[in-house]
Amino acid sequence: MTNKDDQSTSTAVQEAATDAKSENSAALPKADPCTLVIFGATGDLTRRKLAPALYDLACVGCMSPHFDILALGRKPLSDDAFRKNLEETAAKSKDARGFTAEGWKDFAGRITYLQLDPEDPASYQELAAHLDKRGGSPNHLFYLATPSSLFAKIIEGLGAAGLNHNDKGWTRIVIEKPFGHDLASAQQLNQMLRAVFAEEEIYRIDHYLGKETVQNLLVFRFGNLLFEPVWNRNYIDYIEITAGEKIGVEGRASFYEETGALRDMVANHMLQLLSLIAMEPPVAFDADSVREQKVQVFRAITPMTVEQVARRTVRGQYGRGEIDGVKVSGYREEAGVDPKSNIETYAALELFVDNWRWAGVPFYLRTGKHLSRNLTEIAVHFKRTPQALFARTPDDVLDRNAIIFRIQPNEGIAVNVGAKRPGTEMHTANVQLDFKYREAFGTRSAVAYETLLLDAMRGDATLFTRRDEVEAEWKLITPIEEAWKQIPPPEFPNYSAGSAGPAQSDDLIETGGHHWRSLDPLD
Ligand code: BG6
Repeated sequence: MTNKDDQSTSTAVQEAATDAKSENSAALPKADPCTLVIFGATGDLTRRKLAPALYDLACVGCMSPHFDILALGRKPLSDDAFRKNLEETAAKSKDARGFTAEGWKDFAGRITYLQLDPEDPASYQELAAHLDKRGGSPNHLFYLATPSSLFAKIIEGLGAAGLNHNDKGWTRIVIEKPFGHDLASAQQLNQMLRAVFAEEEIYRIDHYLGKETVQNLLVFRFGNLLFEPVWNRNYIDYIEITAGEKIGVEGRASFYEETGALRDMVANHMLQLLSLIAMEPPVAFDADSVREQKVQVFRAITPMTVEQVARRTVRGQYGRGEIDGVKVSGYREEAGVDPKSNIETYAALELFVDNWRWAGVPFYLRTGKHLSRNLTEIAVHFKRTPQALFARTPDDVLDRNAIIFRIQPNEGIAVNVGAKRPGTEMHTANVQLDFKYREAFGTRSAVAYETLLLDAMRGDATLFTRRDEVEAEWKLITPIEEAWKQIPPPEFPNYSAGSAGPAQSDDLIETGGHHWRSLDPLD
């Protein structure tokens, strides 16, 4: 046990972790041989996320010698110019561990660039001919890293050119978010996909599922007998899920103006976190068993009525403020944003999972841009002990127990418990049992895109969302969006950049007698 300031981890844990690490490196999972075909290869996602992750996978020896990348974009670029462009970002990226010019040269040799207009139906015949002539691996992984407005055209084009079938190997398609913008558009996209690909060939990405601590939620919950008996309404008071970001919309104003915080973060990442913390034990850790249990959680949440939306949701938009000593402008002043915009950059809501395990336990979700702190965590707050045994002690300061899953930064798990202070009198104190990934395992967690790309290349869809899952998410989010159109928006801006969000959000949680955990960077 340590107090909050002492973050040491036991030597025994470190030794065990080091053993596990050396065992792991001996048995690294291997991707199938394949050609990864990236649509939108000149875009931000490819440069910032996909290329560093692929480079890393190649460096640690996860790639087959028969892995190569066909990058597609509208710009006329030579292979070398395209590779150079990726290299500059990868060299600076924290995600490309151990970047070396030599290692990159090796990796870059696997990349070729093809100029292609995804909106031109003739492009897909050209692509089919190119893949045929190229003679690489017969396994094809298509990755849609384009704006979502192009998804339908690409899916249709691949189908029309017969690229959805492959007699000599497998074909899979990875789709980035946003998967639709409401229930109807998600259903339409699903129908279109299913007309061209089989469900087991479709990999819908939610990159939060690739994060180490997110996956660890399942091990923690179902691999430890200690927690399962108390994981229900009898012992848990409420659950808080926070995804706070210091960054603003970062040059993505046009996307954000059509999206907002609810669609951008809650409709996918945060609901996924909720489903993992609340789901029943799956019968196995495989794609269908895990996804089935997640869908059951969404089904147990009743979509809100307009009146409930008014009471149980909060919208916010940041105004001018200061972050890390730097002045930042308000959302409405950002380039590309309507000066009267009513798009929310912050959302908070209270949800109930109406099933046997969770009836009556509120789940509070909050997310926002330009908040005081980068923090993604789930806090599970327990009820008080039944007896006020220490009420007459000199200082009864015992909080309720809480388990905090820190998804980022400083991935780990902390358990808040009460303890007696050393001394002759009965003084109590709150202390924290602290597990940190980096300290325990002596290594940094894998980057989410590495995990997910590797899984897609190995044909494991457990960490990707299923058709009914995305639709179930939209069934909860669309009524909120619809209700917000009917309810007059709050006076925006209603929080300053660099703060913890709008005051209304405190009212939301305090009505139930609860409190948000602090977003103060010093806590
Ligand atoms: C993306 C959102 O899906 O997730 C971004 O579109 C957000 O707005 C990002 O910043 C957060 O991801 P992470 O991994 O940095 O928490």
